[in-house]
Amino acid sequence: MAPPAMENQITNGDEITTKYKLTIVGSGNWGSVASKLIASNTLKLNSFHDEVRMWVFEETLPTGEKLTDVINNTNENVKYLPGIKLGKNVVADPDLEHAVKDADMLVFVTPHQFMEGICKRLVGKIKGDVQAISLIKGMEVKAEGPCMISTLISKQLGINCCVLMGANIANEIAVEKFSEATVGYREDKDVAQRWVQLFNAPYFQVSAVQDVEGVELCGTLKNVVAIAAGFVDGMDMGNNTKAAIMRIGLVEMKAFSKLMFSSVKDTTFFESCGVADLITTCLGGRNRRVAEAFARNGGKRSFDELEAEMLQGQKLQGVSTANELYEVLSQRGWHELFPLFTTVHEICIGRLPPSAIVEYSEHPPTLVEDSA
Ligand SMILES: NC(=O)c1ccc[n+]([C@@H]2O[C@H](COP(=O)([O-])OP(=O)(O)OC[C@H]3O[C@@H](n4cnc5c(N)ncnc54)[C@H](O)[C@@H]3O)[C@@H](O)[C@H]2O)c1
Repeated sequence: MAPPAMENQITNGDEITTKYKLTIVGSGNWGSVASKLIASNTLKLNSFHDEVRMWVFEETLPTGEKLTDVINNTNENVKYLPGIKLGKNVVADPDLEHAVKDADMLVFVTPHQFMEGICKRLVGKIKGDVQAISLIKGMEVKAEGPCMISTLISKQLGINCCVLMGANIANEIAVEKFSEATVGYREDKDVAQRWVQLFNAPYFQVSAVQDVEGVELCGTLKNVVAIAAGFVDGMDMGNNTKAAIMRIGLVEMKAFSKLMFSSVKDTTFFESCGVADLITTCLGGRNRRVAEAFARNGGKRSFDELEAEMLQGQKLQGVSTANELYEVLSQRGWHELFPLFTTVHEICIGRLPPSAIVEYSEHPPTLVEDSA
C-alpha cells in the first residue's frame, strides 16, 4: 500500500511515522459498531490518525434534532445504536464529499442498494491511492451478470477493495461479546494486515484469507438462507428442519460461489464468514426474524410492510438478495440447481406459500454439488 501523503507523515526523532486517515461511509447499526471498534484502535495504534470520520445519511429525529448533531453532542447514534458510546474521536459528518476527501482508508458499510449512487457521487472526490474495505452484504445484478459490491467499488472508483464479513450481529459486538470475522483480500497481504489491525479487538478476532469473492459471497448468500430459516420458525417446524435448511443452504452457497468464481476456496466456508455467519444469521438476525413474522401471517403481510413495522429504518438484505439471485439463476438457467434459493424468492413474492420451503425434495440438493 502506498504511504499516505506528506501532510500525514509525522516526524518522531529520526523516525518518520505514517499516519492513515480513516473514514467510514455509513452509520447504521453495523456502521456504528464498526466505528466504535475502529475508533478504539486508532487511539492505540501509531500508524493511524486518532480521528475517525463517519458519514451520516442525515435524518431529522422525532425531537426535531439532526441525527449528526446528536451523534456529535452525545457520542451516541441514538437511532441505530442507542445506549452505546462510539468513542470521542468519532466525528459524524453529513457531507459525503467532505467526509471522504482526506481519507487514506475508506470503510463502506451501508445497505447494498445505496452503494451504486454513493460510488457515483464519489468519483473524482477521493484520493487516488485510497484503500477500501466493504462490510456490505449483497450484490448488484446487471445485464452482464452479478456484480459484487467490492467489485462495484473497485471498478467505479478505481481503487483496491477488501471485504470483511463474519458471524457479526452488530448489537452483540456493540456490547463486546466475543466473536470472529474474516477479511478477504485479493493480492496485497500488507493491506489486509492493516485492516485486521484496525478491526481486531480482544472480543473481535479477525483473520485474513486471500479470497475476496468467497468471503463476500458467503456474507451475501447466507441472508437468503436466513429467510428460509425464518419461514421454518414461523411454521414451528422445529430444529431438525431448520438444521436441514441450513445444511442445504450451505451446499447451495458453496455451489453457487464456485460456479460464479472458480477461484473460490473450500476452506473459506469454514471461516467465520462461512458456516459461523450462516449459523448466527439463521438463529438470530433481522432477516430470520422478519421472515418468521411473514410465515406466521401466512404470507399475507408483505416484507415491505413488516420491515417498516419491525426494523425502524434498518434494512432487510435477504429479500432483495433473493430477488437478485433469482435474476442470476434465470439468466443462466440454473433454477433446478438451486431449489432452496429459487423457492425462497418465490415465497417472498407470494408465488408459493411459506410451507413450500420444504417441498422441493424432487431436486435432491446433492445434485447441486455434483454439478458444481
Ligand atoms: N446490522 C448488522 O448486524 C450487520 C452485521 C454485519 C453486516 N451488516 C451489513 O452492513 C451493511 C449496513 O447495515 P447497517 O446494519 O449498518 O445499516 P442499517 O440497516 O442499520 O441502517 C440503514 C442505514 O441506511 C441509511 N440510509 C437510509 N436511506 C439511505 C439512502 N438513501 N442513502 C444512503 N444511506 C441511507 C440509514 O441512514 C442507516 O444508516 C448491510 O450491508 C448489512 O448487511 C449488518
